[in-house]
Amino acid sequence: MKAEPKYIPQSILSHIDKDTRITALTGAGISAESGIPTFRGKDGLWKKFRAEELATPEAFRKDHRTVWEWYRFRQDIIGKASPNPAHHALAEMEKLFCNFHIITQNVDGLHRRAGSSRLCCLHGDIWEARCIREGTVTACLPGKDGDPVPLCPSCGALMRPNIVWFGEALPADELEKSYRLARGSDIFLVIGTSSLVYPAAALPMIAYQAGAALIEVNPDESPLSEIAVHIKEKAGTAVPGILEEFRSALG
Ligand code: APR
Repeated sequence: MKAEPKYIPQSILSHIDKDTRITALTGAGISAESGIPTFRGKDGLWKKFRAEELATPEAFRKDHRTVWEWYRFRQDIIGKASPNPAHHALAEMEKLFCNFHIITQNVDGLHRRAGSSRLCCLHGDIWEARCIREGTVTACLPGKDGDPVPLCPSCGALMRPNIVWFGEALPADELEKSYRLARGSDIFLVIGTSSLVYPAAALPMIAYQAGAALIEVNPDESPLSEIAVHIKEKAGTAVPGILEEFRSALG
């Protein structure tokens, strides 16, 4: 008798071909092995910093300098980080499957740097700034503490980080596309997210209810773990392992 593969059940692998529709939803955990702190958990950023003072429109109105300092601090960490084997494995999956997409909650840009192009970025991009008056988006180059806050090159108004803050709506086009992908997936991978922040956290359930096989990669439990095939490993090991199993299944 053939041994069951380590990560993906054979019952799923035996049905895949290059047209299988695969979507990966990623969260901060996929970038943890690149040295970027996650938000929740024992060393999470929200254990040390107060989200409501740094990641809300009210916080920006009250004290935009502090908010910019917070994003400069995070840009500094992210700017020194590189994509890890999990990011690279997802970029390889995009080459294997015609219908492979990533939906990410991360703002670090590491999927793109790894070479992924079919990407939905739900929570914005830390390397962009947006004019609070006109909405113009420009590249936001790495800065340092004490730098003046960026002003709009066309109208001179204050720029804000192009990030979706708590209490704000997600970009409608990216969200609509994510719902469509969730409803139309054969396999839905959930990698490195606590599955607590909505609307992103609703996507795996939408996929599952529409008939997708749900695969979770997370060393810890999440609200999804009970219904998903839960791979209790770090993304940097498990995602390259999944890639290899997909490759062998395609033959
Ligand atoms: N591999 C896989 N998963 C990991 C790893 C790893 N190496 N390390 C940690 N994790 C898991 C944790 O167990 C946790 O469940 O990643 C998850 C990270 O959860 P959060 O910190 O809550 O990050 P995320 O789910 O992306 O947060 C959603 O919250 O504050 C906001 O806007 C922010 O986009 C973010 C959103």
